[in-house]
Amino acid sequence: MSNYHIKNLQEYFHLYYKSVRNPELFWEEIAEENFVWRKRWDNVLSWDFTKPEIKWFEGAQLNITENCIDRHLHTRGDKTAIIFEPNNPNDPAEHITYKQLHERVCKFANVLKDKGVQKGDRICIYLPMIPELAVAVLACARIGAIHSVVFAGFSATALATRINDCDAKIVLTSDGSYRGAKTIDLKGIVDEALQDCPGVTKVLVAKRIQSDIHMEAGRDEWLQPLLDSAASNCEVEIMEAEDPLFILYTSGSTGKPKGMLHTTGGYMVYTAYTFKNVFQYRENDVYWCTADIGWITGHSYIVYGPLANGATTLMFEGVPSYPDFGRFWEVVQKHKVNQFYTAPTAIRALAKEGTEHLEKHDLSSLKVLGTVGEPINEEAWHWYNNNVGNSNCPIVDTWWQTETGGILISPIPFSTPTKPTYATLPMLGVQPALMDENGNEIKSNQVEGRLCIKFPWPSVARTIWGNHQRYKDTYFSAFENMYFTGDGALRDEVGYYRITGRVDDVIIVSGHNLGTAPIEDAINEHPAVAESAIVGFPHDVKGNALYGYVILKETGESRDRDNLRKEINQQITDKIGPIAKLDKIQFTVGLPKTRSGKIMRRILRKIASKDTSNLGDTSTLLNPEVVQKIMDDAF
Ligand code: PRX
Repeated sequence: MSNYHIKNLQEYFHLYYKSVRNPELFWEEIAEENFVWRKRWDNVLSWDFTKPEIKWFEGAQLNITENCIDRHLHTRGDKTAIIFEPNNPNDPAEHITYKQLHERVCKFANVLKDKGVQKGDRICIYLPMIPELAVAVLACARIGAIHSVVFAGFSATALATRINDCDAKIVLTSDGSYRGAKTIDLKGIVDEALQDCPGVTKVLVAKRIQSDIHMEAGRDEWLQPLLDSAASNCEVEIMEAEDPLFILYTSGSTGKPKGMLHTTGGYMVYTAYTFKNVFQYRENDVYWCTADIGWITGHSYIVYGPLANGATTLMFEGVPSYPDFGRFWEVVQKHKVNQFYTAPTAIRALAKEGTEHLEKHDLSSLKVLGTVGEPINEEAWHWYNNNVGNSNCPIVDTWWQTETGGILISPIPFSTPTKPTYATLPMLGVQPALMDENGNEIKSNQVEGRLCIKFPWPSVARTIWGNHQRYKDTYFSAFENMYFTGDGALRDEVGYYRITGRVDDVIIVSGHNLGTAPIEDAINEHPAVAESAIVGFPHDVKGNALYGYVILKETGESRDRDNLRKEINQQITDKIGPIAKLDKIQFTVGLPKTRSGKIMRRILRKIASKDTSNLGDTSTLLNPEVVQKIMDDAF
């Protein structure tokens, strides 16, 4: 376990230099000493960012579930692998041991096999945060099927797009889900989506809310009876290190969502290693990440990273505000949570409620606090630190992306001194670079630039499913021989990084990545709308909220504006999901455009943020008069 567990800053620097001087040797030692491989690799790394092609541990064979489950059975068989905390606090929590997880995953895997699923098949998983979701993910991995989890807050249209993009034949879902005081008809959403998915032949339905739902004869089957009669052992499928593990969709600034493809060996090594170090997980700790498994955070740091370390990982079905804003703290106290990982938007929402709920609960079990998904503002950072952590728990502000598979920049708790709003230092083997607008690397400190990564790390996504060219264009073309993150960052005098936000047309709302183009497309489909443009503006809980500028068709001019606003948001909810709804909609006669026809979003962003004292260079505008009109109407 030589390099596996970083214990102080000196060791971090020592290992960091080692990892950069000889990344192959560094990762080879980690891979060799901490995982079960059925066959050793022939080559640790081959890469070419111009193609781009990246391969880690080529020639090695393994199964990630053997690493996440089977190998723990002798030493940790009766240890809790997953704690399931249900939506309703009066329902009992479930403690699933490694042995039980093994049996459940095997049974599920056998059900899938029985339905004809084979290695390489894509399986769409549209499930709420119930144990079946984690089990389904692992069951796919066990038999080499590629899971594509779709967050169960996405609409039928969004689900259909994702099913069709990867040609999934099977969908795993539930009769419904609980979300606070509400229930959601998940199966109804699936039924609607499948009207546009002729390739889907089978839907397996878990029972969660016991509702009376439509079951399509020949296509839909209840999961439980199949599990009951399935054999409780299932041999693992032997996978090549570079065989696909999963697809996870993320929004781009244009076009349809990007199906990021992650492969097996490198992803496992990197997520396990970063989990252990970023959270300083110790054997009997209870770790809780509040994300949904429908996002990358859940994949890497609820399921794979923790389980590969034999950890106890908590899955929470509910929301922070149900039955009241004390729920997170009640769960921390109840399960004696040691590491707590959440999003800045949740922290801000909880901070608004004051400290009254916190004071009612014993949070003394907490050792490390984490944040992810968007920049954390100073106020939220201090609130988290002082009130949740009692100024006693290091905060790990972890920067990473769906595409990076694992955390790339973060403090190592108890080693790296933290600094509010800074993600601080790169993880081992990660080589960040800040680039200026001319494409040159800025070597000095105390600078801001576009954040790139110079060298591959094991869990980088290998392609976009079905569109390698787009992968190349999006990530490897902006700067020569670099992975471009799409984020801006600042490097301070000691080399700490602070992520300043997206530099493209992706907007992060409550920690969710939203591309402007798909939302605009959804709005433009409204019969009264001619054109639209979306920008983000600061919001004290969500970080950013969405502001839409909408040009109506002549036929829409006579319509009631409030009704139109409702219809537009309904249209967005139907096409994408409620997370993409607009907070403000301004009807306008025109949009500021350059001579080449490009919308000047910079100006729209300034107007939306009420920051119009200096609009910057407007000399390339084709229609400068429209700017004044928009400003007059906005304020
Ligand atoms: O802009 C960065 C922001 O979230 C983006 C990635 O979003 P997604 O792929 O959905 O993954 C989120 C969970 C890993 C990044 O490009 N982001 C993520 N973490 C941070 C962050 N921005 C600032 N600070 C962070 N810690």
